[in-house]
Amino acid sequence: MLDTIFSQKQIRTDAESLQIWGKDWTNGYPVDPRAIVFPETTEQVQELVTYAISEDLKLVPSGGRTGLSGGAVASNSEVVVSFDRMNKILDYSAKDRIVTCQPGLVTANLQQFAKGQGLYYPVDFASSGSSQIGGNVATNAGGIKVIRYGLTRDWVAGMKVVTGTGALLDCNAGLVKNATGYDFRHLMVGSEGTLGLMCELDMRLAPMPEPQCVMVVGVPQVADLLNILHTFADQITLSAFEFFSDLALTKVQAHRGLTAPLTEAFAYYALLEFDESSLALAEEAFARCMDAGWLVDGVVSQSEAQAKSLWQLREGISESLASYTPYKNDLSVRISEVPGFLADVDRYVTESYPEFEVCWYGHIGDGNLHLNILRPEDMAVEEFFKHGHGMSPKIFEIVAARRGSISAEHGVGLLKRDFLGYTRSDDEIALMQGLKALFDPHQILNPNKLLATPSNAGKRP
Ligand code: MLT
Ligand code: ZN
Repeated sequence: MLDTIFSQKQIRTDAESLQIWGKDWTNGYPVDPRAIVFPETTEQVQELVTYAISEDLKLVPSGGRTGLSGGAVASNSEVVVSFDRMNKILDYSAKDRIVTCQPGLVTANLQQFAKGQGLYYPVDFASSGSSQIGGNVATNAGGIKVIRYGLTRDWVAGMKVVTGTGALLDCNAGLVKNATGYDFRHLMVGSEGTLGLMCELDMRLAPMPEPQCVMVVGVPQVADLLNILHTFADQITLSAFEFFSDLALTKVQAHRGLTAPLTEAFAYYALLEFDESSLALAEEAFARCMDAGWLVDGVVSQSEAQAKSLWQLREGISESLASYTPYKNDLSVRISEVPGFLADVDRYVTESYPEFEVCWYGHIGDGNLHLNILRPEDMAVEEFFKHGHGMSPKIFEIVAARRGSISAEHGVGLLKRDFLGYTRSDDEIALMQGLKALFDPHQILNPNKLLATPSNAGKRP
């Protein structure tokens, strides 16, 4: 019985809670967990795993539930393991610049804590006010500062994790150097809760950057976004290089009541962020791009408030599209492949589905493009999702032809599971299955996410 491990306030089985904690931001999957539990200690997590093994219960780890690939969806009577009550900072070592925290710590709270120490936690994205560090690590979250600071993986100095056998692994202990074989910490990062339940995380902090300037420029041709990127990156260190299409701008403006950044409309916009002390060099790069005809107009923030409002144009896009229940894609190719790749996908979608609006935005400086196809107002969600499902193989073929990834940062979860073969080879998937069998021999951890459980295998292309 779960109540031999947890107190009453740590278990919920009411219908409303099952619906809330049984899903993430992904739509279209049944939500049917049997219970939600809220462990408070590592020992409780271990006891839960032991109990799940004995009762053949399946466990779905759950953080801030902001995921977009169904990684935290419980559809088959699983027990959802919410880390909402394991949300504390346990320790801080100023000399190591390492925060030891529980997985349920909200990302923005880690950012805030770092600020209080005169330091910086650099992984950032629009959902950082709700997402949790454990979920960020489980999906190796990226976001808007990857071009300068890398992914969540780069900030994980150590972790304690309970595997599917109930064993507690203490991985890397915050060491900078450790050449003692396989690094399980990095195996856990991005494993989407399929190999273990993280209970403690050592997160590194960075020095506080100087104040930032934000520039938004209008770009008529998609290929020129890359020319602009390289011209600026040759001169200055960029903290962000994002892009969005005019349609994306129109949607976010309407949703948030924002004014247009430039007097004229352009097919694409790039948003650049850099240190204030680089402004003069950035202006030189801007002039060079203007002379080359790659950009036509631009605006640069004059204050922190203006920088924030320019960021809204990019960060508000995802939320502004939510009411369209879009068919979302999170694709990446090498930066040099971006223009050709975007043109290929755009051509396929606009020729095959001329009635659908296609919205592009994303972290183009990392080669990561978000493709959102919007559901027409008069089309039922189910019918629209069927079209999305029909498009996926074709889009992923285009990704595979350029040796790209079908998921750059959102993760595989349920949404991309049956398409993993477009990015990973059969040999790689077999090795992943082997690792899963080692770490979770009873198949109790986040079943059917990332990899089909053996009984459900064979669906992949
Ligand atoms: C973003 O970059 O805005 C997020 O990854 C969310 C999304 O793709 O919609
Ligand atoms: Zn993104």
